[in-house]
Amino acid sequence: MPHEQYDDCWLRYERVADGARREAYRRRCRHAYVAEKSPESSAVRDELRRAVPGLLDEDVHLWQHPPTTADGFLAVGTPDDMAMIAESVPVGEVEDLADGGYLLRSVEWEGQDCLVVTAPTDRGLVYGTFHLLRLMATGEPIDDLDVWEEPAYDNRLINHWDCPFRGTVERGYGGESIFDFDRLPDLRDRYEDYARLLASVGVNGVVVNNVNTDYYPRETTTEAAQTFDGWRLLESRRLEDLTSLASVFRRYGIRLYLSVNFAAPERIGDLDTFDPLDEDVRAWWRQKVDEVYDLIPDFGGFLVKADSEGQPGPYNYDRDHVEGANAIAQALEPHGGRVWWRAFVYGSHEDRAVQAYDTFEPLDGEFADNVTVQIKNGPIDFQPREPVSTLFGAMPETDVGLELQITGEYTGQGVHATYHLPMWKEVLDFDTHADGEGSPVKSFFRGSGEGVVGVGSVGEDHSWTGHYLAQSNLYAFGRAAWDPDCDAEAVTREWATQTFGADDDVVETVVEILHDSWEACIDYETGGLGLMHMMHNGEEYLENHYYPSPEEWPGYHGASEGGIGVDRTSTGSGYAAQYRDPVAERYESPETCPEKFLLFFHHLPWDYELADGTTVVQRLYDNCFDGVEEVERLRDRWTELEGRIDERRFRHVAERFEEQVAQAERWRDVLTETFRDYSGIPDERGRVPEP
Ligand code: GCU
Repeated sequence: MPHEQYDDCWLRYERVADGARREAYRRRCRHAYVAEKSPESSAVRDELRRAVPGLLDEDVHLWQHPPTTADGFLAVGTPDDMAMIAESVPVGEVEDLADGGYLLRSVEWEGQDCLVVTAPTDRGLVYGTFHLLRLMATGEPIDDLDVWEEPAYDNRLINHWDCPFRGTVERGYGGESIFDFDRLPDLRDRYEDYARLLASVGVNGVVVNNVNTDYYPRETTTEAAQTFDGWRLLESRRLEDLTSLASVFRRYGIRLYLSVNFAAPERIGDLDTFDPLDEDVRAWWRQKVDEVYDLIPDFGGFLVKADSEGQPGPYNYDRDHVEGANAIAQALEPHGGRVWWRAFVYGSHEDRAVQAYDTFEPLDGEFADNVTVQIKNGPIDFQPREPVSTLFGAMPETDVGLELQITGEYTGQGVHATYHLPMWKEVLDFDTHADGEGSPVKSFFRGSGEGVVGVGSVGEDHSWTGHYLAQSNLYAFGRAAWDPDCDAEAVTREWATQTFGADDDVVETVVEILHDSWEACIDYETGGLGLMHMMHNGEEYLENHYYPSPEEWPGYHGASEGGIGVDRTSTGSGYAAQYRDPVAERYESPETCPEKFLLFFHHLPWDYELADGTTVVQRLYDNCFDGVEEVERLRDRWTELEGRIDERRFRHVAERFEEQVAQAERWRDVLTETFRDYSGIPDERGRVPEP
C-alpha cells in the first residue's frame, strides 16, 4: 500500500516481470526462510513482506525452518544460522567478505530451486536482500545468480543539516525536517521508511543534526532565529530520547552520529572553558561519551565544524585543529567511535581556495587514529562544477573522507532537475597523480576510518527531496559510495526503472533528462568556463544561493574591463601549485588548462582565443544560451511522458521544469549582460541587448 503522506521513491515494488521470468521469481521467492535472531534479520523479514506481494502478485510465506515445497525457496542468513546455507556456499569465502559484503546465489537444495542470500554479518543480509529485490524490481533474471559484493568504503554516511527543535533544514529544499526531536522517543513511520531507503543503497551512518550547532550569523536577518540549538542533543535527556531513533536505524545496519559543538563542555557542562588541552575539558568529553555509549552501544561518533563560519573551535584558545580533534577523539577511542572533523575553513586568505590545504596539509600524520578529516569535493563550496580539492592525496598519514552535496544548494534547490552523479563521477575519477599516475580521488578512502559523506536532501515533502527527480541524487549517492566504479548510466537506469516502472521509453527519457541536466545547469549558471559563485543574497533570507547576482561577489569571477577570471597561478593566489605535477603544470598555463576550468585558474582578456578560435566572451555567451536551450529541450522531453506515468509526478515535474526554464533564462540574461557591460564586446549573434 503506498503511503498517503509520502512517496515510496524507488521502493515501490511494482511488478515488472511477466511470464517465465515471473514464474522463476515465484519459484524461488514465494517461500522464504530467514534466520530470526537480530534486529537486522527482522528487518529482512519485514522487507520481504512488503516487497514480495507487489513483485510476485502474491504473499510471501515465511518459514521457521527450510520448507519442503513443490517449488523452491529463498534462504537468508549467515552460514552459522542454517545448515542449508552452510552446505550450499563456500563458507570460508563468505566469512572473508568485508562487513556489509554479501553473496547471492541460485542453488539446488533437495531437488528444489532455491536462492541463498548470505553474508558474514547481519548488516550484509540487509544489503543482500535489497540487492535481490532490486533485481526483481528491474526485471533481471535470478535463475543463475552468483553475485559477490563488498562495499568499496567502510563508511557511507549522510550528514543531515537539520536544525533540531526548529524543524528546519539548512539548504534543505524538501520541506521541514523529518526528525521531530521534541517528540522523541516517540517514533514516526517515516523514520523506518527513511532507514529502508538508505539501507537499500548501502548507507551505513546518519548524522542527524546540522554541522552548524550554534549561532549562525548568516542564516536570516531576524535575530531570534539566529540561534541554533543543535548542541542541546548532547544533553542527557536528549540522549535518552535518541535511543529510539538509533534502534530504528540499527535494524537497517545504520549507525547514529551527532554533530557536536566544540564549546559543549561550557554549554552543556558547567566548565568555564572548552580549551582542548585542559584536563577537565578532556575528562568532560570522556564522561559525556561514556554516557552516550551506555545508551547507544553502536553509536558512530561525532561530526565537528570548528573554527568555520562562526562556529567555536580550538582557535578560541590558540590551539590547532589537531589539538581540537584529538581532544574529542581520545574520549571516543575506547568505544571505537570516530571524530569526523571538517576541513571546510576559509576567511583568512584572500583566495579561499587556498586555505584548506594550507591549514590541514601541514598537520598530516598528527591526527589521532580515530579522526577522519572530511573534505568537500572542491576548494570553494559545492559549486555546479569545481576542480577537485588539493587535499586529496596530500594527507597520506591521515584518514580522510570525501564530502559531497546531495541537496542542490547551488544546482537549482529542488526546483531544477539537476542530477549530481555525473559530477561525482568526474570527482571520483580525477587523477591527482599524488602517488604517480593512476591516483584517482576515489582511491583515497579505502582505510577503515575513511569513506564518503553526502549532505542530505530529505524533508517532509511528499517527494522527500522537493522534486521527484531529485530522489535520484539520494539513490545515486548511496550507489556511488558503495561502488565508485559503478556505471553511471546503469545506476540511473536502475533508479528510473524502480521509480517509474518498466516502460522502456519512459525509462530512457528519464535517464536522458538526468544525464544531460548537469551540463545544462553549468552552462546557464556559470557560462561553462570555470566561473562560479555568482548568486544572490536574498532580502529576507541571506544567501539564498538561487538567483543570479554576479555584482555581489566580484572576487569570485574577477571581471574587469580588461578581462575575466581569477588568477590562481604563480602570478596570482598560487592555488594551482597545490596540485601535484603534471596536474599543477596543466592548470598553470591557459594553453593546457581544460576549458571547463579556464577562468577558475586564469584571468584572461575577454577576446582571448580558445582552441577553436572562439573568444572567451563569445564562448560565455554561447554557453549561457545553450544552457537555456538544453533545459527547454529537457522540459519538452518530459512533456512527452504525459499519460505514461502517474499524474501527480508528471505534473509536479512539469511545473518545476517551467520554473527552471524561466530561472535559467534569468541567469542567462543577467550573466550575459554583465559580460557585455564589462567587456564592451557585443554578442556575434546579436542575442545580448546593447547597454
Ligand atoms: C556553505 C553553506 C552553509 C553550510 C556550509 C558548510 O557555506 O552555504 O549553509 O553551513 O557550507 O558546509 O558548513
